[in-house]
Amino acid sequence: MRAVVHDRYGPPDVLRLEDVERPVPKEDEVLVKVHATTVNRTDCHRRAADPFVWRLFAGLRRPKRRILGSELAGDVEAIGAAVTGFAAGDQVFGLNPWTFGAHAEFVGVKAGGLIAHKSRGMSFEEAAAICDGALNALTSLRRANLRRGHQILIYGASGSIGTAAVQLARYFDAHVTAVCNTKNLELVRSLGADEVVDYTQEDFTRNGETYDLIYDAVGKHSFRRCKGSLKRGGIYLPTDGWLNIFLALWTRLGTKRVLLGIPPRYTKEDLLFLKALIEAGEYQAVIDRCYPLEQVVEATRYVETQQKTGNVVLTVIDDGAR
Ligand SMILES: NC(=O)c1ccc[n+]([C@@H]2O[C@H](COP(=O)([O-])OP(=O)(O)OC[C@H]3O[C@@H](n4cnc5c(N)ncnc54)[C@H](OP(=O)(O)O)[C@@H]3O)[C@@H](O)[C@H]2O)c1
Repeated sequence: MRAVVHDRYGPPDVLRLEDVERPVPKEDEVLVKVHATTVNRTDCHRRAADPFVWRLFAGLRRPKRRILGSELAGDVEAIGAAVTGFAAGDQVFGLNPWTFGAHAEFVGVKAGGLIAHKSRGMSFEEAAAICDGALNALTSLRRANLRRGHQILIYGASGSIGTAAVQLARYFDAHVTAVCNTKNLELVRSLGADEVVDYTQEDFTRNGETYDLIYDAVGKHSFRRCKGSLKRGGIYLPTDGWLNIFLALWTRLGTKRVLLGIPPRYTKEDLLFLKALIEAGEYQAVIDRCYPLEQVVEATRYVETQQKTGNVVLTVIDDGAR
C-alpha cells in the first residue's frame, strides 16, 4: 500500500511516499481503508520531535513508527476475530491518538477505541477533521466544568481546537467571546461566538472585561498576562506549555487557577457525543484546505505556518464517496 513515511525527525521534507506492507488487523482491530486523514499540529510535533520530550514516546534516536496521521475516515476493509459491532464495508471515522498510521491507504484501529460509524450525510473529508480539535476542546471544557451562563474567552478561536471550542462552549450555553485575526471574525461569529475581539486591533487583557474561563486554544498566551481578566475563582485553560504544568500545581488552591488537560483522556462516549452533535446540526468541522496524499509535504508546511483556519485534510482516495 502507499503510505507517507519518515525515518528521521526533522522538517516536513523528511516525509516521503513509499510502498509499504499493508497492516493485518489484530484480533481486536478494525482495518480501515482510509479515504481521508488530516495533517494536524500533533503530527508536526511528532515528526519534528519538538518539544524534545516526544522522543520519549516516539523513539529516542529515530521514530519507532514511520507513519504519521492520527485522524481518519474510510471504509472497514476487514475485522479481527474478536471484533463485534463493525463489519467489512462500514463507513467509519476516528482517531488513533497514540499509534497514528493514518497517512496511508490502510490503518488498523482498536475496535473498542476511538472509532465510530460515519453519518451518511458527512463526507469522508469532513469526518476525518472531527476528532483532534473537538475531542481536545470537549475534554478540556468538561474538566474546567464549563456551565450555562459562564463567561468564556477563547483565544486562538480560528484554529482546530479554537473552532471546536467556540461551537462546544456555545452548545453548553456559555457566553462566548472569541479572539482571532480580522480575517476570521465572521467565521467565528457564524460558529456561535457572542462577542468577537480582533487581536490585531485590541488587547482583551486591557478592556476591563473579566471571564470565568480563558481558554488559550492556540498556546500563544499566558496565565501571567490573562490573570487580570479572570474573575475570582476563574480558570486559565492552556493547551500546552511546560510552565503551565508547574503553574497548574502552584495555583491549585488559589483564587485564580491554571488547569491543564494533559494527558488528554478521550473516550468513545465523547466521540459518539460529537457524532450526535453533528447529526443534530450543532457542530461542524471547519476545513481550510484539502491536499492529495502526494502533497503531504506542502500540507505540512502550511500547517506549520500556524495560520490554518480549522483543519487541513489529506485526501487518500478521491472518489467523492459518502
Ligand atoms: N494538549 C494536547 O493534547 C494538544 C493536542 C493538539 C494540539 N495541541 C496544541 O494546541 C495548540 C493549538 O492547536 P491547533 O491544532 O488548534 O492549532 P492551529 O489550528 O494550528 O491554530 C492555528 C490558528 O491559530 C491562530 N493564531 C496563530 N497565531 C496566533 C496568535 N498569536 N494569537 C491568536 N491566534 C493565533 C491562527 O489564526 P489567525 O490567522 O487569526 O492568526 C490560526 O487560525 C497548539 O499549540 C498545539 O500544539 C495540544
